[in-house]
Amino acid sequence: MRISVIGTGYVGLVTGACLAEIGHQVMCTDSDASKIKTLESGGVPIYEPGLDKVIAKARKEGRLSFCANPADVVDAGDAIFICVGTPPLPNGDADLSAIDHVARMIASEATSPKLVIEKSTVPARTGHELKRALSVYARKPGVALRVVSNPEFLREGTAVEDFLHPDRVVVGVEDETAERQMRDIYRPVLERTFNCPMHSPECPKGPAAQWLVTTINSAELIKHASNSFLALKVSYANIVADLAEKLDADIGEVTRAMGMDPRIGPSFLNAGLGFGGFCLPKDLQAFVRLAERCGVDFSMLQAAEKINKQRIDRFVGKIREALWVVRGKPLAVLGLAFKPNTDDVRFAPAIDLINRLVEEGARVRAYDPQAMDKARSIMPGIEYAESAYDAAKGCEALIIATEWPEFRSLDWERIRARMARPLLLDGRNLLSPAEMRALGFEYRSFGRPDAVAEIQNA
Ligand code: UDX
Repeated sequence: MRISVIGTGYVGLVTGACLAEIGHQVMCTDSDASKIKTLESGGVPIYEPGLDKVIAKARKEGRLSFCANPADVVDAGDAIFICVGTPPLPNGDADLSAIDHVARMIASEATSPKLVIEKSTVPARTGHELKRALSVYARKPGVALRVVSNPEFLREGTAVEDFLHPDRVVVGVEDETAERQMRDIYRPVLERTFNCPMHSPECPKGPAAQWLVTTINSAELIKHASNSFLALKVSYANIVADLAEKLDADIGEVTRAMGMDPRIGPSFLNAGLGFGGFCLPKDLQAFVRLAERCGVDFSMLQAAEKINKQRIDRFVGKIREALWVVRGKPLAVLGLAFKPNTDDVRFAPAIDLINRLVEEGARVRAYDPQAMDKARSIMPGIEYAESAYDAAKGCEALIIATEWPEFRSLDWERIRARMARPLLLDGRNLLSPAEMRALGFEYRSFGRPDAVAEIQNA
């Protein structure tokens, strides 16, 4: 099919590239002309493993193009994916102004029938507002503009795999035509009739994606309900970690055993600095606000949000307890991105933590494998190191703020030798307390017994 994608951020770019990869003819646009310029010149404005390869291949095969003129892009596609941002407003509601703007643009430019597909995460009932906007602003009455909700379940760091090998494809439609067209779009994914560029030619023969057709409201609700449940799991693990600390128990053992129950499952039970990123925090807030508007008391989610917000306070308390005085001390921070395998620092706990440490007068030197440029642009006032070893030089404490797997395999003896004091504060429970103690570190983390150095006899 001929497909247009509006918005080339983490969701739009992955969606456009993967739709081209599975055989569609795709044209993408963005209101940020510099992004289109970068893309047209072969650059990729975000780090997402494998995305650059997929984009290059699709462009070479003439199935993916970028255009700064949205009118041309609306005209080019029979199906239009709306992938614009829906950031949080101060009161927690999702800001839907970009969606409204795109609706008006589509309505005024469309001269032939279009399938208008809501990929951005929006509160339930947005699809019906979108429908209304399309008909109110339609320049050419009678042109069929069908609205579909097709929520994204992409995780940053694995977004290409998540698009090409999804657990489920959810579509919210109002008629058979829209359902049929959506099935045509996703057929290669549902039937795995493409050679996945991310794996060897024989893709994992895991269970094929489940196809779920429902109403627009239900499809929108599925997205918020899923993301908020993930946030609930993380906050549940974190509050049990606080309890484990009081009981001298080990949260790692507790959540490992919990996860052995298939009804609970092992993922999203890692205690630490909590959830960040451009999705979970804002989706949870928007969900609470939607519930409030519907007269439903979702205080359970507000509790999850409160627990998440406490993580930074708790961790700064641990740092203060270990250091006594923070002011003026050089601290190394490993990790800036909100999670591993991404360069995204939006709503990253690491950034919040560093801002708090700077407020307390610490001298911070940070390192991250991917997110340095994006962090520098929003936080110019700290030092940035070339490597973890460079960050550790002369520091009074080393802090792990993002669970990058490569931090596990650092030469910790070498790190310790470069530090002014062998104090390690692990904000993501990435390392083993016993191993770090054996390496001579004073080690603190969330919900696990501290390895505190014996007070040297005076
Ligand atoms: C999330 C959802 O997982 C995805 O399905 C949805 O489409 C978009 O939002 P993403 O925001 O990319 O994806 O990140 P995710 O992997 O969910 O992690 C979110 C945050 O939770 C990260 O800050 C991560 O560090 C934190 N986290 C995750 C924990 O603190 N503990 C965990 O056990 C898991």
